[in-house]
Amino acid sequence: MREDILSAAAKRRIFFSPDAMEMILSNNDPLSFTNTIFSHLSENAMFVDRKQIMDCIAGDMVIFESKKEIVPDNRFTPDIHVMPNSDITGESTCEGKINDFAMYFKNRYHTIRRLIERRRDFGRAVDIARAKELDRETKIVGIVYEKNTTKNGHTMLTLEDETGVAKVLISKDSDIANEAFVHDEVVGVSVKPTVSGTLLMAQKVFRPDIPKDHVWEESDTPSKIAFLSDVHVGSTTFLEDTWYRMVSWLKANSVKEDIHYLVFPGDVVDGIGVFPDQDKELEIKDIYTQYEKLAEYLKDIPDHIKMVVHPGNHDACRLAEPQPALDKVFTKSFDSNILMLGNPVYLNVEGRTVLTYHGKSMDDWISGMQGMSYDHPLKVMKEMCVRRHLAPIYGQRNALAPEKKDYLVIDHVPDIFVSGHVHGAGQEIYNGVRMINASTWQDQTEYQRMHNFNPDPGIMPIVSLSDGKVDMRNFHK
Ligand SMILES: [Fe+2]
Ligand SMILES: [Fe+2]
Repeated sequence: MREDILSAAAKRRIFFSPDAMEMILSNNDPLSFTNTIFSHLSENAMFVDRKQIMDCIAGDMVIFESKKEIVPDNRFTPDIHVMPNSDITGESTCEGKINDFAMYFKNRYHTIRRLIERRRDFGRAVDIARAKELDRETKIVGIVYEKNTTKNGHTMLTLEDETGVAKVLISKDSDIANEAFVHDEVVGVSVKPTVSGTLLMAQKVFRPDIPKDHVWEESDTPSKIAFLSDVHVGSTTFLEDTWYRMVSWLKANSVKEDIHYLVFPGDVVDGIGVFPDQDKELEIKDIYTQYEKLAEYLKDIPDHIKMVVHPGNHDACRLAEPQPALDKVFTKSFDSNILMLGNPVYLNVEGRTVLTYHGKSMDDWISGMQGMSYDHPLKVMKEMCVRRHLAPIYGQRNALAPEKKDYLVIDHVPDIFVSGHVHGAGQEIYNGVRMINASTWQDQTEYQRMHNFNPDPGIMPIVSLSDGKVDMRNFHK
């Protein structure tokens, strides 16, 4: 550089003093600074020192320009927020007392009742105690306490609100004979009293549902969000090769593909003692080491990608939902830019509403509702949307913690609703909601083989935040 400057000066018969040279070389761009000096010098200047440079270009900011800031290659600033009151982490108050349960179900009832009453074809509900006294058609909202089939093949529901309990009969000959109900869901029904007055006859069923006019409005962001569910680090069946194939692809493509966000919807490690004899299927038998290994894998993921991790039923966390974020004792080796959140949680990502829930309740949906199966998790997710609840069934396989607020209610309409747990992979749009089951990074386990369950591993769903297109990218060969 010094030689270039000296030869440029020599061509103009100019000689710089040592302090002038020092000043020039300390500039960010010495050559263009030298040219600036040349353009400011008088024609007969020959020997130029520091003072002359200062004088002749006084006021020219170039002299005083500070060293340029080092700008990282990627200038993207993530725009991701946890939606208020959607994460139980640090907010849990329940002690499992009777009163906790009463408050929990009250909150569920009223939140979903409000959603049902927002429907244009429903209006205001009448309390159950009052509806039983009236001899005209009314609309009620109740929690399904019981459902039976009568000996004549009709459906008998027991619905409950704070004012009373009603037996509601759905005739097998009516248009609504095929409606399916799950325990503890909140439902609206228009009812007519029977002649005897002991029963109410259901005329129509109203679900809170996702509004039909909910659409994905296109935006001009280039950003994409990806999902990696059920990684199961620590299991002997963790698909390390498939994982590395995915990581190499991210390294090569995530910048040009604008993949800026990555969400892990639970079961990030295989855990310990989750099912009998699990240790026979564990490569890493220590829970802390499982999370340390996961932290290592995550360090490979390009730095510009903002990551979110929440627990599932295999993680070291209370099982009862909603689950708080993983404790720091497990995640101390994780990079600090990884957001550790509860399950479920709502995220606002560049204006899109993303609901992420591990999906343990699918076990209860599948055993409690006809037509549901482990092969079709998206069908289950649709039923969750229709009932605006992730896990309505209380007291079966999926434990629920009676918090003051029911965090499992789908109280915001999501743009993206992602789930895992059943190790399937698929996507479907329901009333504008991108529903995704986000695969797994674990091969078929012995338990799954015995039950003839075939997972869809190694698939990363990538959603474009501009137009909502979903790309199910397969890394499993
Ligand atoms: Fe899992
Ligand atoms: Fe799971």
